[in-house]
Amino acid sequence: MKSFYITTAIDYVNGSPHLGHAYEKVLTDVIARFRRMMGDQVHFLTGVDEHGQKVQQSAKKKGIPPQQFADEVSEEFRALLPKLNISNDDFIRTTEERHKRVVRGVLQQLFDKGEIYKAEYQGFYSTRQEQFLQEKDRLPDGSWPEIFGEVTEITESNYFFKLQQYQAWLVEFLTTHEDFIFPRYRQKQVLEFLKEPLNDLCISRPRERLEWGITLPFDDGYVTYVWFDALLNYYSAVADKPGLWPATYHVIGKDILLPPHSVYWPIMLHAAGLPLPGGIIAHGWWMQSGSKMSKSTGNALNPLDLVTEFGVDAFRYFLIREMNVGQDSDFTREQFLVRYNSELANNFGNLVNRTLNMANRFAGGVIPAAEVAEDAEKELRALWETTRAEVIPLCEGFQFHTALEKTMFFITATNAYIEKRAPWKLGKSAEAHDQALLRTSVATMSEALRLGTALLTAVMPGTVGKINAVLGYTPGTVWQNELAWDGRLTGLKVAEALVLFPRPEKPAAKK
Ligand code: ME8
Ligand code: MG
Repeated sequence: MKSFYITTAIDYVNGSPHLGHAYEKVLTDVIARFRRMMGDQVHFLTGVDEHGQKVQQSAKKKGIPPQQFADEVSEEFRALLPKLNISNDDFIRTTEERHKRVVRGVLQQLFDKGEIYKAEYQGFYSTRQEQFLQEKDRLPDGSWPEIFGEVTEITESNYFFKLQQYQAWLVEFLTTHEDFIFPRYRQKQVLEFLKEPLNDLCISRPRERLEWGITLPFDDGYVTYVWFDALLNYYSAVADKPGLWPATYHVIGKDILLPPHSVYWPIMLHAAGLPLPGGIIAHGWWMQSGSKMSKSTGNALNPLDLVTEFGVDAFRYFLIREMNVGQDSDFTREQFLVRYNSELANNFGNLVNRTLNMANRFAGGVIPAAEVAEDAEKELRALWETTRAEVIPLCEGFQFHTALEKTMFFITATNAYIEKRAPWKLGKSAEAHDQALLRTSVATMSEALRLGTALLTAVMPGTVGKINAVLGYTPGTVWQNELAWDGRLTGLKVAEALVLFPRPEKPAAKK
């Protein structure tokens, strides 16, 4: 079996999880489930980023020690995962000993190799971004961009990691590994960025300024810069699990691609003599009224409200159907309701209802065999063959929104097939051919439902399980074998009914 190790970013615990964090978990979960279905041995890691100034400040505001604060918020992030039906294998917290041990080990190794040196720094510092700024970061009018928050001038001694000497290596690496970053145009942006000389990376913070971090193993007057600490989580979580490193993919948001994941991380690994991950998937942002949903701007949606109201699978479906991985999407309740009603309730849910209903009404609740294949049956089957052939490569290329679109198109075509065959009319006829067509139509809609459902497994695992259960069907372990149109449901006893996507009861007024 092929090993497939995938990670999400680890979330800062300076505030509650929002829709953006939920999306990243769901997207990564869909990839993980898809790879498992394709037969890979998947290891899926997620977790939380607990150190640094943001967390220290948030704890201080609440008047509690940072560890207690981190414990509380981390629990919120962890508790979200089962509610989103996330199939992660591990959850890492950067305050865990297993992580700190690895961070100290890597720092000491790099220090011993002469990759880290001490120097005096004088310049500008952004607390919000926890980074040192350069003249080129200023806006044309000389001010600092809003994203940096309060900027102060400081002078202090710190430890620096020799990034610059690896710049040429990184350019060479990215030039020869064109698929390292998804989407590809982001890789071009990184190469563009690398046309300017890199500065060495300040990897320490003096204890007087920041206490909440991992103490440098070679100087206890300093703690480790939070990004240097955080990036190592991907490795520390599997350092004692042979065969897992390097990761296959890191899934992150586009805001943390450049420079942390596309510059610091590859260079850190290379300097430490560790293999590089297979790739980085940089997704876009969920926006609200044109601005990024975030903890600091207060426009964040609590994902659990939507899960409570519409169910976890409708929520997962919407996120994956709506977002083209890499681009941004505006979140509106109206758009959510449009997809919920038109695609899930009226299309997919309707097919489930009709199929159960007709199997019970016209076939005594037992799925009959197809007896004839006229144009209507042949067309639906041909559409299935194209759908099936298109969906797998789309999923392999992270085009899940299009894969869902194609799947829904097939579901729509199945509903149209039912309209065309009109079993309710055939049922009134005593003619032998009409009776054969009636049985065929029930067999055909059942088979099409089973197949369309199989394509939704990674996105709506709970719903797919329920549908198979009412069809009396237990899928096999090899997913691709589930995609053959072969009438395997013949003779199975179906349930009476299944309510999947009920009309939302609450009025649409609440945001
Ligand atoms: O950046 N839409 O943590 P974080 C989509 N601790 N994704 C979003 C989003 C939005 N509106 N807002 C945030 C950090 N995200 C670091 C990561 S990794 C070694 C350290 C995504 O809590 C964001 O892009 O600010 C990132 O991938 C993740 O949520 C955590 O963001
Ligand atoms: Mg952020």
